[in-house]
Amino acid sequence: MEIEDPRPIPEPVVLHAPEPARATTARPEVLPQALSAAMTAEPALRVQGLDLWYGAKQALFNIDLDVRRNTVMSLIGPSGCGKSTVLRSLNRMNDLIDGVRIEGKVLLGDQDLYDPKVDVIELRKRMGMVFQKSNPFPKSIYENVAYGLRIHGVKDSRVLDEAVETSLVGAGLWEEVKDRLKDSALGLSGGQQQRLCIARALAVKPELILMDEPCSALDPIATGRVEELIFELKKDFTIVIVTHNMQQAARVSDFTAFFWLGKLVEVDLTEKIFTNPSQRTTEDYITGRFG
Ligand SMILES: Nc1ncnc2c1ncn2[C@@H]1O[C@H](COP(=O)(O)OP(=O)(O)OP(=O)(O)O)[C@@H](O)[C@H]1O
Ligand SMILES: [Mg+2]
Repeated sequence: MEIEDPRPIPEPVVLHAPEPARATTARPEVLPQALSAAMTAEPALRVQGLDLWYGAKQALFNIDLDVRRNTVMSLIGPSGCGKSTVLRSLNRMNDLIDGVRIEGKVLLGDQDLYDPKVDVIELRKRMGMVFQKSNPFPKSIYENVAYGLRIHGVKDSRVLDEAVETSLVGAGLWEEVKDRLKDSALGLSGGQQQRLCIARALAVKPELILMDEPCSALDPIATGRVEELIFELKKDFTIVIVTHNMQQAARVSDFTAFFWLGKLVEVDLTEKIFTNPSQRTTEDYITGRFG
């Protein structure tokens, strides 16, 4: 069930106005500088001419998208437009689905993820994934966070302890769980479980964090905590987030990409998309005329 977010939609802003632009995120005071940094950051990931078919049905059409380092990119658009498909293409999770055919490139640094020589396991280590429904393993809090390191062969308990603490601190969960690390993760609240999954993703020190509607099962308070966390995490990571909640996209992301019928209609600074989009379809969507 979608939970109404009680916070108001930020006022529209005009970019490049003589007055400092008002921000559309929760922390306007940091935005002007942050915006310029976001706009000039190097791409961490580049999608070039990506086409994708599920069997005979084409789901993505010629997608070109740059995701800049240490920024947050929201993917928005109506149900079925291809947001999750794009996200899964970024870490080759679509490989796990029968009948998927992909053309085009996804470049992480200089490496094309779809180069047949790529080691997919190594690749996925460079990307953390957080899903809509938190999915902690039926293990202790500690083991959930240590999991990724253990499967990559880390055995030294001091290394594991440190990584678990750092990741839980990073995910804003440490204070709540530091005295119960050996307890089952399944005893945590929904919002805590989602932050635990974020901690688990952070533990392997990925370059990119991919999130598919990470807050849609959370209440507004837990959602707010995850949003604050996303804002903090972009200092160290690059984040791509699929969201149905446009206020959320406006609050957390530097850039927003709007998809429709498997096509990328428009990608731009979040402020621009929500106040003065270039495309009529984008405007119709963000003003609630369809979707
Ligand atoms: N495993 C699959 N097999 C076949 N078709 C699929 C599969 N996954 C998605 N599709 C189709 O691809 C298109 C894009 O789906 P996708 O899940 O990427 O949309 P979405 O934008 O994430 O939607 P939602 O907002 O509902 O999550 C849809 O037409 C969908 O039916
Ligand atoms: Mg989806």
